[in-house]
Amino acid sequence: MAFDRDSLELLGRALEELDRGFRTLPEFACAASGQERMGEVLLSLAGKLQDNYPYFHPLYAGQMLKPPHPVARLAYALALYINPNNHALDGGRASSALEKEAVGEIAAMFGWTEALGHLTGGGTMANLEALWVAGQLQPGKTILASEQAHYTHSRISSVLRLPFEEISCDDRGRMDMAALAGRVARGDVGTVVATLGTTATGSVDPLADILRLREKFGFRVHADAAYGGYFVLASNLSREAAASFWSAGEADSLVIDPHKHGLQPYGCGCVLFRDPGVGRLYKHDSPYTYFSSAELHLGEISLECSRPGAAAAALWATQKLLPLERGGEFARGLEKGREAALQFFRAIEKGGEFDAAFEPELDILCFVPQGESLEEISRKSRQIFALAARQDLHLALAELPARFWRRLEGKGPAHTVTCLRSVLMKPEHLEWVEEVVSRLVRATEV
Ligand SMILES: Cc1ncc(COP(=O)(O)O)c(C=O)c1O
Repeated sequence: MAFDRDSLELLGRALEELDRGFRTLPEFACAASGQERMGEVLLSLAGKLQDNYPYFHPLYAGQMLKPPHPVARLAYALALYINPNNHALDGGRASSALEKEAVGEIAAMFGWTEALGHLTGGGTMANLEALWVAGQLQPGKTILASEQAHYTHSRISSVLRLPFEEISCDDRGRMDMAALAGRVARGDVGTVVATLGTTATGSVDPLADILRLREKFGFRVHADAAYGGYFVLASNLSREAAASFWSAGEADSLVIDPHKHGLQPYGCGCVLFRDPGVGRLYKHDSPYTYFSSAELHLGEISLECSRPGAAAAALWATQKLLPLERGGEFARGLEKGREAALQFFRAIEKGGEFDAAFEPELDILCFVPQGESLEEISRKSRQIFALAARQDLHLALAELPARFWRRLEGKGPAHTVTCLRSVLMKPEHLEWVEEVVSRLVRATEV
């Protein structure tokens, strides 16, 4: 049985407790369709959902996908019986308090005790808010991000009608500091986006160096830590990556996605601002809400209106069970993924069938099969991707600069190569590295 059903009993018990709070209300019959019909529809849905890669299994080591923690799943389901809306205290009193507490705990990981922040629909929405605030404070000025930054930064900038430029990367996928220094010296830069954990390779931009440049040029610094943010708790990073995470608290704004490494269901990003004063930029009137309390309604400091209180409930419950602390169980889970990626890297270096781009900084590894030309290597990557899937090993593909592989020099005129990419973000991956490697090697032998 792939899926845990035991915990459903806990949901029943929690529902009884929830019920107790509303027992003074008169009985009423909920207008739902019959059980039989719902059962039919659900069974049909279960059949359709089988058409998915097994994201929950350690042999799924492709994209950034992992199952939410069972407590998050149950807390979300429990909260759905109320279905609170965290736009305003009028719609989600208890869950707004849970959101403020959970977001405060995330901010505390970066040493922020007074920060302003809230949950969002995801990383894109959170980055949009951060750049929207940046644009209000530095109107018309250019946003810079590395060529390996998430593609949405350029699109968000165009939505906000802010000029956007890419800064080149070094051969490990990190923002090139000489290129950045040259660009900011030309002036008119409003914000530099530092990515802490790029989507393709998990590379960590040199944030401490970027912050030093800020002192001279006065731009804002936004840390897109949507993927990597929680690694601030990990104790097995390289010295350079650790230095970037340790300086994240000096950024002006920060995005971190609980629905990536925070064990949450999709629909849970988080944006934080070091200066709570930026809350004034959100100021608006709503004739329909904000009437039930003078306390802060989260809709007063967010661009989205309706937001799921259930997401806050799930995050709160997860953080109660697994506090966000160094050395704790949650941090150990991240460290295991990183260790798995390092072991995978070493196995690949030793085996001779593949070349890794570079040692992973987090838990993502990119590698290519051997070949005479970039064209042949790209073709073989796609072939192995498909053959590995036939053995239930699910990897991902990425198109990356060929210069990320020193050994690919002189193998062709193309600037990019198709590589295999593996995200080892589940703690269970650590025990499966050997199996992953052996299935991968078998895929090359077919
Ligand atoms: C670094 C980074 N930023 C932003 C995003 C966008 O986040 P979302 O998919 O939650 O909108 C991603 C998604 O993979 C990401 O890796």
